Amino acid sequence: MKPPESFAAPAPSAIAFIDLAAQQRRLKPVIDANIARVLAHGQYILGPEVAEFEAALAARAGVKHAIGCASGTDALVLPLMARGIGPGDAVFVPSFTFVASAEAPVIVGATPVFVDVDPETFLIDPKSLADATSAARSSGLRPAAVIPVDLFGQPADYVALAAIVAEHELFVIADAAQSFGGRRVGKAVGSLATVTSTSFFPSKPLGGYGDGGAIFTDDGELAARIRSLRVHGQGTHKYDNVRIGVNSRLDTMQAAILLAKLSIFSDELKARDRIARRYGDLLSNVVRTPTIDRDAESAWALYTIAHADRDKLAERLKARGVPTAVYYPIPLHRQEAYRRYPIAPRGLTVSERLATEVISLPMHPYLDAAAQDYIATAVRESLRIK
Ligand SMILES: Cc1ncc(COP(=O)(O)O)c(C=O)c1O
Repeated sequence: MKPPESFAAPAPSAIAFIDLAAQQRRLKPVIDANIARVLAHGQYILGPEVAEFEAALAARAGVKHAIGCASGTDALVLPLMARGIGPGDAVFVPSFTFVASAEAPVIVGATPVFVDVDPETFLIDPKSLADATSAARSSGLRPAAVIPVDLFGQPADYVALAAIVAEHELFVIADAAQSFGGRRVGKAVGSLATVTSTSFFPSKPLGGYGDGGAIFTDDGELAARIRSLRVHGQGTHKYDNVRIGVNSRLDTMQAAILLAKLSIFSDELKARDRIARRYGDLLSNVVRTPTIDRDAESAWALYTIAHADRDKLAERLKARGVPTAVYYPIPLHRQEAYRRYPIAPRGLTVSERLATEVISLPMHPYLDAAAQDYIATAVRESLRIK
C-alpha cells in the first residue's frame, strides 16, 4: 500500500519495536567488563554476581529478600511449590495475560480459575475475582491463591483486592514480569504483595541476554524454602535433599549483565515514562490510550492502545514501516490447552473484547521524538483512511 500524498514525513530508517541494540551501544563497555569478570573467576552457577544482583534488587524493591531464578515462569511456580499449593486448590488468574500466569498453577497440579479484567486498566477485576472465589468454593475447589498480573507495566490494584484476599485467605503472587520498576501507592513493585515474581526476558523493562527471573518477599521462611527449591530441594549441603525441588537458578553471566543494565534502569524508566506521556498527548484524541490509575506508575513494558478495527490499523502501520504487536490475541480461557478450566460466573467478556482490540506500538527508552512523531502521524493517517 502506498502512503497517501498528505503523508509527508519521511520514514525514519528503521523503527524498532524494542531497540535493544541502542541500549547495548550505551552500555557495551560495562557489559564487557562484567562478563570478563565472570570469565576470570569462573563461578558460573550462583557466583558472586548473583548475590550482588539479588541484594541490589531487594534494595530497589524495598523488601528483605530477592531470589534469582531461571525465568519469570519459574518465579511463579517456585512460590506456589513453596506454599504447597497443588491438587484441589483453585488459583485465580486473569484471562487477559501471557500464558505463563496460568501455566504455573497447572504445573503444580492446581486448577487455574479465569477471572475477567477491568475494561479501562486491563487489570484483574476485583468483582469478577469475588464471584469466582465463591463459585470455586461451591464447586468443591479450595480457593488458595490469586495471581494478579501487572499488565503492560502497571501494577494491579492490590489495595482493592485486599478484602477478597483476606476473606478467602488467598496467597497473593504478583505477576510483575512486565512491571518491575513500577510503583503503586508510593511503594515499589516487589513490595506490593506477599510474593512478587518478575522476568528478565530480554524484552522486559529490565531484560537480560537470555532467560531469568526473580522472586521478592519479606517472608524469611518462604524465601528460605524458595532458595532450597531452586537447587533441587537442597538442605544444609549439596547432597542433602530435604524436599522435591527443581533446577532454577539465575546464571551468574545473566546476573553480571543485569547488574550493568540495573545501573541505567532508573534513567530508562524516566525515558519510558516521558515517551508514554508524549504518546498520550499525540494520540489520546484518536485512539484509546492506556489508563493509568492516579496512584500507579507504570514501568511501560508495552504501550498498548485499543481500537475497534485493530487488524486494519496494524496492516496500515506495517505498510508505513511501523512495527506493532498484539498482546494478546486469544484470552487464555479460549486457548486449546486451557479451555477446560473454570471461568468466573459472569463470563470474561472484557478479556474477549480486548483480545480483538489491543495493539502495542513501539516502546523503548531510545525512541526519539522524530520516530515517535512519525509513528503518531502514521496512526492518525491510518485511522483516517476508511
Ligand atoms: C505476564 C507475564 N507473566 C509471566 C511471564 C513469564 O516470564 P518468562 O518468559 O521469563 O518465563 C511473562 C513473560 O513473557 C509475562 O509477560
